[in-house]
This record gives sequence, C-alpha cells and structure tokens, in this order.
Amino acid sequence: MKRITLLGATGSIGCSTADVMLRHPDKFSAYALVGHRNVNKMVELAGKLQPEWVVMTDAAAAAEISAQLPAGVKVENSMDAAIALASAPQVDMVMAAMVGSAGLPATLAAVEAGKRVGLANKECLVTAGRLFMDAAARSGAEVTPVDSEHAAVHQCMQGHDRDSVTRVILTASGGPFRDRDPATLHAVTPAEAVAHPNWDMGAKISIDSATMINKALELIEARWLFSLSPEKLSAIIHPQSIVHAMVEYCDGSVLAQLAMPDMRMPIAYAMQAEPRLASGINWLDLTQTESLSFQAVDHARFPAMRLVQDVLAGEDSLSIAFNAANEVANAAFRNGRIGFMQIVTTVEQVLARVENVPVGSLDEVWLHDGHARTLADEVIAT
Ligand SMILES: NC(=O)c1ccc[n+]([C@@H]2O[C@H](COP(=O)([O-])OP(=O)(O)OC[C@H]3O[C@@H](n4cnc5c(N)ncnc54)[C@H](OP(=O)(O)O)[C@@H]3O)[C@@H](O)[C@H]2O)c1
Repeated sequence: MKRITLLGATGSIGCSTADVMLRHPDKFSAYALVGHRNVNKMVELAGKLQPEWVVMTDAAAAAEISAQLPAGVKVENSMDAAIALASAPQVDMVMAAMVGSAGLPATLAAVEAGKRVGLANKECLVTAGRLFMDAAARSGAEVTPVDSEHAAVHQCMQGHDRDSVTRVILTASGGPFRDRDPATLHAVTPAEAVAHPNWDMGAKISIDSATMINKALELIEARWLFSLSPEKLSAIIHPQSIVHAMVEYCDGSVLAQLAMPDMRMPIAYAMQAEPRLASGINWLDLTQTESLSFQAVDHARFPAMRLVQDVLAGEDSLSIAFNAANEVANAAFRNGRIGFMQIVTTVEQVLARVENVPVGSLDEVWLHDGHARTLADEVIAT
C-alpha cells in the first residue's frame, strides 16, 4: 500500500488522481490532501479518501473546513504544513499538482526527502529545473512526469539508449484558437480561452494552451526531465491529441505513444508504471477516430514558441522570468486587466529587461522570480 500526499488535491489533476486512487484502494491510501481555497471540493475528497491530514494553504479556508471534515482528520493551514506532509517519513509518494511556482517548495521538499514524485506541476521544473534534478540525483527520488507528453516520452524511452535519441517531438493540440483569424485574437474572452477543444483542465493551463505558452513550458520541462540539449527538442501541432509525443532515434526509428486524451492515463502511469494500472479512460479505437494529422507550429500565430527558443538557449534566469511573467500576465488576462494578445507581449517585454545568468540556489530563484513579477506588473500597468 502506497501512502500518498496529494498537493493540489482540489484541482483538475488532483481530482483525476483521486479517481485513480479510488479505483485501486488495495494499492493507494491518502496520507495528506493539500488544497488552497476550495473548501467544498476538499470536503468531498476527504469523505471519499479518508486522509490523515487535510491542509488548506489559505488560512480562512482552513478555518472554515475544520468542522466539515470526517472525524479524526487533522487540519493544517499553511504552506509549511504542506512541505512537512510532502516530506514526512510516512509518505511513499507525492503527487505534485499545485498550479504555478507556488508548488515548488513542497515538491522540492518531497524530492529532497527521496520520495517518488508524480510531477504535474511543470512550473517547478521551469523555475528551478537544475536545483530540482540535482536534488533528485542526490536523494534518489524518482520523478515521473504526469504531463501527457512527458509521460509519453518516458514510455518511448524505456529500455532504449538515451544517447541514441536524436529528437523528442511533443505534440500540441494548438488550443481553441488554432484556426481562428489572428486579427480577431485581441477580442478573445477568458471564457473562450479556457474552453480547450480536447482536454478538461484548470483555468491557468487552459489559457497557457491557448497562447501555446504551455508547450513552451513543456519544452523547458522536457529539457530537465530527460537531460536533453535544446536542439533535440521540438513540437508539432496535432489537433486530435491522440499521439502525445514521439522520440526519434539515430537509426531513423520514431516511437510514439497513443491514448485517448484523458489525464488519468499518465497519472496512473506516474503512480505505478509497471505492471500497468487500469485508469478508467476510454479505449482508443483508431477505426472510430478522425484521421490523425500533423502540422508545423506557426510562430507568427504563436509567438511564445519563438520566444522560448531564446529561453532554451539562455541561462536559468530567463526560464524563471518566462514563467513568472506568464503567471502574472495569465492572471491579469483572467481578471480582465489585459487582452489575450498582451499575455505574450508582456512576457516578451519582461524577458528583454532581465539578466541572463545561471542560478544556483532557491533564494536566487525567488529573487529572479520576484523581480520578473514586478516587471510584469509594471508592463501591465503602462
Ligand atoms: N489539468 C491538466 O490536464 C494538466 C495537464 C498537465 C499538466 N498540468 C499541470 O498540473 C498543475 C495543476 O493543474 P490543474 O489544471 O490541475 O490546476 P487547477 O485545476 O487550477 O488546480 C490547481 C490546484 O492548486 C491549488 N492552488 C492554487 N493556488 C495555490 C497556491 N497559491 N498555493 C497552494 N495551492 C494552490 C488549487 O487549490 P484550490 O482549488 O483549493 O484553491 C488546486 O488544488 C499545473 O502545473 C498544470 O500545468 C495540468
């Protein structure tokens, strides 16, 4: 029986993880569920999963939830508690599914403690990839990707020589605006941007998919997860989201992983790769799907994919700024402060104003992160 701490339990990935856990009560139990503000969802999950601990990192939410939880469930109200419960000796595995770099401290604590970590929270690796992977190498923590593309790469690399890899190709659906007239994109509303054609996801990542910043973040994530040089990383548009990624080898062979677009598959794989776990997703029937198609990414339509080339070629501080500026701009768009097209221009303007330097400690990460957030706020205010 694996005891799990689920960071970001109340979110889209958190709830899908709970679904997989409940399908395998003989294999997984909940040690701690960590949410931020969504009290109703946490009460529902705690009733089903019966954890020892519930953490709401928002203190008001923690105060509100106390009386509503099943008897015996202990409640905490801080990120420090989340960090402690992600690294506690009782825990076998941590599912890292908070959104944004807010998830970094608790996920890094789990890695430092040598836990098996299912990593959905890609912003951790974008912000502190070097520190994160170094910590995993020191502690022996097994970091398994939950992003469907990275889970696909992981599967396509099993049993194969890493040095023979010539290219990793992540697929991208192109989001809701793949075919929309670019001249109309300035008028896009948050509701339109969140309505992803293939995946049911949280608001922030759905908007990241619409700008394709999500794919840019995933290229940075892949660089760290699989220790790949930037020239081996690429992305291709695949509107059906059936092929999740491909790995090309030096003999010209290309391995692909296919599945219906449902995050419970990569979640189940991250929780236990082999033997495989039933995940509850629909079977893929290629005779019933529309034909699979692929096209190059249009950098004029998706300028984030051009910007990320500079980030990949640069030092750590650029990745931190790219992520932080995007978090600020994404939230500003959702709050109606900027238009859709200003998300990427904000990131671009911040990148033009930050240093391009290596980053060697978590304190430095937060300095660069904070500076980029301040610059993004300034850009948005002008
Ligand atoms: N959804 C997907 O299909 C998908 C696919 C691949 C990768 N990912 C990645 O997985 C992560 C989670 O995505 P999601 O779609 O599940 O997001 P989501 O539905 O928005 O859920 C985010 C979770 O993080 C918590 N949270 C938000 N702000 C927080 C803060 N300041 N401190 C602590 N916790 C906070 C939320 O708590 P409350 O709701 O309680 O406030 C919620 O539990 C992201 O990094 C995303 O890029 C998601």
